[in-house]
Amino acid sequence: MGADLASPWWIGQVAIPTRLVLAPMAGVSVQAFRRQGRRFGAGLVCSEMVSCAGLQHRNERTLGYLRIASDEHPLAVQIFGSEPAVMAEAASMVEAAGADVVDINFGCPVRKVTKTGAGATLLDEPDRAARIVEAVAGTVAVPVSVKMRRGLEDGSRACLDVGPRLVEAGAAALTLHPRSARQMYTGFADHSLTAELVERVKVPVIASGDVTSHGQARAILGTTGCAAVMVGRAAQGNPWVLRELLEPDAPQPTRGEVAAELILFVRETVRELGERRAASFLKKFYGWYLGRGRFPRAFKQELVVCETTAEIEQRLLVAAPDAADVLERLEEELPQTEDVLLDLPISIYGGG
Ligand SMILES: Cc1cc2nc3c(=O)[nH]c(=O)nc-3n(C[C@H](O)[C@H](O)[C@H](O)COP(=O)(O)O)c2cc1C
Repeated sequence: MGADLASPWWIGQVAIPTRLVLAPMAGVSVQAFRRQGRRFGAGLVCSEMVSCAGLQHRNERTLGYLRIASDEHPLAVQIFGSEPAVMAEAASMVEAAGADVVDINFGCPVRKVTKTGAGATLLDEPDRAARIVEAVAGTVAVPVSVKMRRGLEDGSRACLDVGPRLVEAGAAALTLHPRSARQMYTGFADHSLTAELVERVKVPVIASGDVTSHGQARAILGTTGCAAVMVGRAAQGNPWVLRELLEPDAPQPTRGEVAAELILFVRETVRELGERRAASFLKKFYGWYLGRGRFPRAFKQELVVCETTAEIEQRLLVAAPDAADVLERLEEELPQTEDVLLDLPISIYGGG
């Protein structure tokens, strides 16, 4: 028997209300995604990976990743890079922006990142990896966590050697996605490795990979002894999966609910990214929200070719007229945006 998914746990001194963590996903984990995740039951949400070099150079777009709303907490901001001193500087900016946890990426398998010596390649360089964690943990007061893959090559068990060293260096939690970097997203996540890692460290371990149902989440918690499970792809356009994971009998969303959540997501993303960036960013979300048999396939095609997000909203309201009532209710329940979004850390650093 594993812990109850709806029970609290801690990373260092940070209390996390449920054992569901919303995964960091580049090109997905915007503020709207994270706030929605918290609303549907994620105990901890994460930013996508943020370049420490981008933060060091005060790159305007990179600084934008540090915008944190007050209803996102607890929240982890993830950084990637290969130089301990630069990572430490980035971590203190992340802390100043209000993150509750600084997460370090030792898992990204994408060549653009690994060729700079960052991401999953650090699993092959345990000394440097430990120096990065030591530098970051020695700089910030908030807890530091690390997210990693099993290793670079298929069958690798590098995470079992590197993980304990990172804990010695100061990591207060570890997330394991037990696929190799070479595997990318093929095959399956081998959570027998998660169980072995749990045996080897005294800090909480978060299991990432292929969590899609309540039964599976309970089984992973039970068989590995991990502190929490992380949900990634299953939550894309599908915040309801978080609710189902916590309450297996939760009803499926109606068309009106799906359309209302999508409209809210569109509005928030436009506020965050501006109309032009949001319009292209959002395209992949239409299929994710409207798929799963929720709307006819042709309707998704209609949305993808719309020129403005206002047009998207109109078409959704026509296709699901009861979305208007749901949306009104949602907006009443949500904290007032101005109160919630006070801190724009960009201003701390003098803007772009
Ligand atoms: C589109 C996409 C972007 C991702 N970006 C990141 C990232 O920025 N940082 C990270 O640590 N993992 C990233 N991941 C990996 C996920 O956090 C997660 O570990 C992985 O998808 C396995 O979990 P899942 O089966 O629940 O999706 C990404 C995954 C996807 C699909």
